[in-house]
Amino acid sequence: MNFSTLHTTLEKNIFIITINRPDKLNALNKTVLNELDAAIQNVYDDENIKAAIITGAGEKAFVAGADIAEFMEVKNEDGASLAKKGQQIFFKIENCQKPVIAAVNGFALGGGCELAMACHFRLASEHAKFGQPEVNLGLIPGYGGTQRLPMTVSKGKAMELMMTGNMIDAKEAKELGMVNYVTPAENLLEKTKEILNVILTKSPFAVSKVIAAVNAFYDCNKNGFDEEIKLFAETFASNDKKEGTAAFIEKRKPVFTGK
Ligand code: COA
Repeated sequence: MNFSTLHTTLEKNIFIITINRPDKLNALNKTVLNELDAAIQNVYDDENIKAAIITGAGEKAFVAGADIAEFMEVKNEDGASLAKKGQQIFFKIENCQKPVIAAVNGFALGGGCELAMACHFRLASEHAKFGQPEVNLGLIPGYGGTQRLPMTVSKGKAMELMMTGNMIDAKEAKELGMVNYVTPAENLLEKTKEILNVILTKSPFAVSKVIAAVNAFYDCNKNGFDEEIKLFAETFASNDKKEGTAAFIEKRKPVFTGK
């Protein structure tokens, strides 16, 4: 796929989306958001893609936030549509049936932290920094940060981060549960791929239902336990369950088809 602000590659069924505006610390302008939307749609649609990684170009930033310069061009009355658009794209990431993992290679601020939180889980390089500095601009997070950060850390810590605008380092982000692993920068993508390669040996159908069931816990329109029963039943009736259980009994490796 050809994008002007993203670089994408497909490596052994893993689609790597690199946000590519390093001179602006990969800030999310309209073009990046539109292209990210299209790239994620491609993850939904392309059968050769089994998982995705989102990362940032350059050594300094994952994404340093929404593009502040572009805010100057947006009319006061268009704030709601700006937030809504970002939220829709991040919901699309969160609800993708294939794993979408953030490899946070530097600053993840504002919309960058929100993007990372919308991914299914996160790894970070040792020099990564996280924060929601919108208060410095007289704003609040608008791409889901006020909702996903308290889910990921705690209400109190999320309040502190959003009220102070302070950044935290990768070590603290790991202690808070925002990231699963911290690696040297040069190992970040390899470690992310290593985890995805384990996931890709499992039933894609079951993995997609894990995503849906866990997301249901955070969806106030759903009863997560009821959703789990429904999704468990779907896996129970699947070909992958038939294959997985037969392979166990026959002491061989399963060959999953994702159905
Ligand atoms: N939007 C637009 N441009 C941004 C940006 C953003 N969110 N973050 C960084 N940039 C641009 C800078 O304007 C600068 O561009 P220039 O070279 O044309 O002047 C370039 O990226 C490099 O950033 P700079 O500030 O010079 O780097 P630094 O190392 O001194 O500081 C940060 C790094 C991340 C601390 C600083 O860039 C920053 O605070 N960014 C804004 C973070 C933010 O508030 N995000 C939330 C937005 S809602």
